[in-house]
Amino acid sequence: MGDIAVETSGVSKRFRLYHERNQSLKAAFMRGRRAKFEEFWALQDIDLQIPAGKTFGLIGHNGSGKSTLLKCLAGILVPDRGSIGVHGRVSALLELGAGFHPELSGRDNVYLNGSILGMSRKQIDRQFDEIVDFAGLETFIDTPVKNYSSGMYVRLGFSVAINVDPEILMVDEVLAVGDESFQRKCMEKFADFRAQGRTVIIVSHALGTMRSMCDEVAWLDHGKLQGVGRPSDLVDEYVGASHEDRTQAPGDSTSSGGSRWGSQEITLDGAELLCDGRVTSQVSTGADVTFRLRWTAPEPVAEPVFGMAIYSLEGVHVTGPNSQDVGLSTGTVHGSGHVDVHVPTLMLTPGTYQVTAAVLDSTGTHAFDHRDRMFRFDVTAGHPRDRYGVVSLGGSWDVAVDRAPVT
Ligand SMILES: Nc1ncnc2c1ncn2[C@@H]1O[C@H](COP(=O)(O)OP(=O)(O)OP(=O)(O)O)[C@@H](O)[C@H]1O
Ligand SMILES: [Mg+2]
Repeated sequence: MGDIAVETSGVSKRFRLYHERNQSLKAAFMRGRRAKFEEFWALQDIDLQIPAGKTFGLIGHNGSGKSTLLKCLAGILVPDRGSIGVHGRVSALLELGAGFHPELSGRDNVYLNGSILGMSRKQIDRQFDEIVDFAGLETFIDTPVKNYSSGMYVRLGFSVAINVDPEILMVDEVLAVGDESFQRKCMEKFADFRAQGRTVIIVSHALGTMRSMCDEVAWLDHGKLQGVGRPSDLVDEYVGASHEDRTQAPGDSTSSGGSRWGSQEITLDGAELLCDGRVTSQVSTGADVTFRLRWTAPEPVAEPVFGMAIYSLEGVHVTGPNSQDVGLSTGTVHGSGHVDVHVPTLMLTPGTYQVTAAVLDSTGTHAFDHRDRMFRFDVTAGHPRDRYGVVSLGGSWDVAVDRAPVT
């Protein structure tokens, strides 16, 4: 294999959207050639070079063309324009249940699917136990797959796809359907593949995962390539752009993130992250940081409650401290000022996080100003070096021998 696993040049794909609901055969004949449809380009002029041995991600909004592109790369769809070069044996898991026959058992489908992916019966015999074991479906393997849950479908499909010894693995959204433990297994498998120098092309909306897993990502927007580059840069740009789409409501030019509400007796005019006395958007695990919320109160307000929350990009609510819970009396505030939340050791694992801030009345129930997803920041690797999940517990490790081997 050369340096490039897959390359596309000017790839465009057109679909036809038919407007008439009743597509009966008779009606179609009667209408003759005058069928009413509209053409629309699901992909336009895609030029991509996917390096061999790397994990490459495709991101973009629903309907942006990710699955269509992946199907073109896998040879399931033929582009209307442009060319595609694929250098290596491909295995693809593209659609939920694609290649499965609902009436057949899991066992028969493994054989069916394996042969579609180019395995001989003998090869499948050899791999069968491993396939079933990876999918964790031993007890259901003789049940017709029409009775499988969507998670079970994906597990079996993925398990077959990775066991055909591909040089290039293409996967569309498996991470979204499997449960936690299966997702972890998939991630380990992707890491193995990468270590073995195989190419993985993956489509996912799990942006944090894409960020940490991919060497490079491509961002599609309405069928056009918006950019290709480092996942940290591109995922942020993509998230930023999706936010802008959502906050183009008039009257809130200051908002950089999500929605805002409240009666405005006090307003939060800004929020930022400080490290070493400087405003920053990138810190490392273990850093000494301060979250600063800047407020304005045109009239005096007694005992407001300030709060903030941190979310991962996938929407996990990581933490939500507030001044009331820590027993802080804020007194009467008037004029403008700021509130600092000092965190001596930031125990977040590498990834991108979003900060929501709010100021509430003294009971903590009525919002004066609630600002969803005000800003984002990145956490890069630091100390502790934990990589998984969203927080590090900073534990210390110790290995002990309780009994010496009998010699
Ligand atoms: N077979 C088809 N016939 C007509 N239109 C199609 C067909 N397949 C896809 N499309 C359209 O092409 C566009 C791109 O679809 P695609 O499935 O590639 O998007 P996607 O980026 O994978 O979205 P999602 O994140 O929802 O999976 C959509 O507007 C979709 O409706
Ligand atoms: Mg899709």
